[in-house]
Amino acid sequence: MTDQSFSPEQIDTSKPHPARMYDFYLGGWDNYEVDREAAQRVVDVLPDIIPAARANRDFLGRAVRYLAGTGIRQFIDIGTGIPTSPNTHEIAQSVSPDVRVAYIDNDPIVSAHAGAKLIGAGQTGFFLGDVRDPASILEHPTIGKLIDFDQPVGLMLVAVLHFVTDDEGPARIVATLRDALPSGSHLVLSHATADFHGELLPEVFKVYQRATATLNTRPYQEVLTLFDGFEMLEPGLVQVPAWRPEGEGPTPEEVRRVGFYGAVARKP
Ligand SMILES: C[S@@+](CC[C@H](N)C(=O)[O-])C[C@H]1O[C@@H](n2cnc3c(N)ncnc32)[C@H](O)[C@@H]1O
Repeated sequence: MTDQSFSPEQIDTSKPHPARMYDFYLGGWDNYEVDREAAQRVVDVLPDIIPAARANRDFLGRAVRYLAGTGIRQFIDIGTGIPTSPNTHEIAQSVSPDVRVAYIDNDPIVSAHAGAKLIGAGQTGFFLGDVRDPASILEHPTIGKLIDFDQPVGLMLVAVLHFVTDDEGPARIVATLRDALPSGSHLVLSHATADFHGELLPEVFKVYQRATATLNTRPYQEVLTLFDGFEMLEPGLVQVPAWRPEGEGPTPEEVRRVGFYGAVARKP
């Protein structure tokens, strides 16, 4: 199930795209020269971006596994990113094969890869949509086909809201999505912060100012307010490696290097 309403010419290779830069940080190959140059400039200033991107992706995996384990059978994953295995549906379906996932991203490059890697057996779908217009996401026919709003939903806003400016109202966006979900739904959210690398961030912002979306890091308290109307699950909002680590868990040094907060919370 896919809505790839774009033409290949829409893939803009003249400007760095955050999705393709993130793919570079994760060691992927779905990026262009312009993305690699921009991402490398970020890495030169902030080498911690590489372990941070990995840690963010691992947080996504642990959160989805946890939610699928509690019985959540449907996910809305906004700001999907270029497919990076394991993707949300692969993780959730390894717990329960009947899980359904609706993927949404506003980048045509993600759409171009979605057909091959995100769509399968009628249980997953992808469409181009913009988190800044949450109503249009909720009304999309693919959501209508995949998501039953009478059953709990896992809403994924992982590493996407820092591409939304204050004027565009990230809290309003989350509230609109939250209000559409039934009780027992969960929010999985992570967000970039300058709380740990503040002095380095101005250079990073400059790189993203030339990209297709600016980077809007937020301090702890502001990220926390995005969870208004939800009940935070343990351990609350933490740097992502510290969210329910598996095995031996991260060292304090590994946590310190990561400028992403993340949490999972339940709609009462
Ligand atoms: C850093 S990646 C995160 C990918 C994945 N969620 C993860 O955490 O591994 C951010 C993604 O958000 C997408 N994105 C940025 N602004 C968006 C918007 N306004 N609406 C929808 N997606 C957006 C980008 O295209 C990119 O694919």
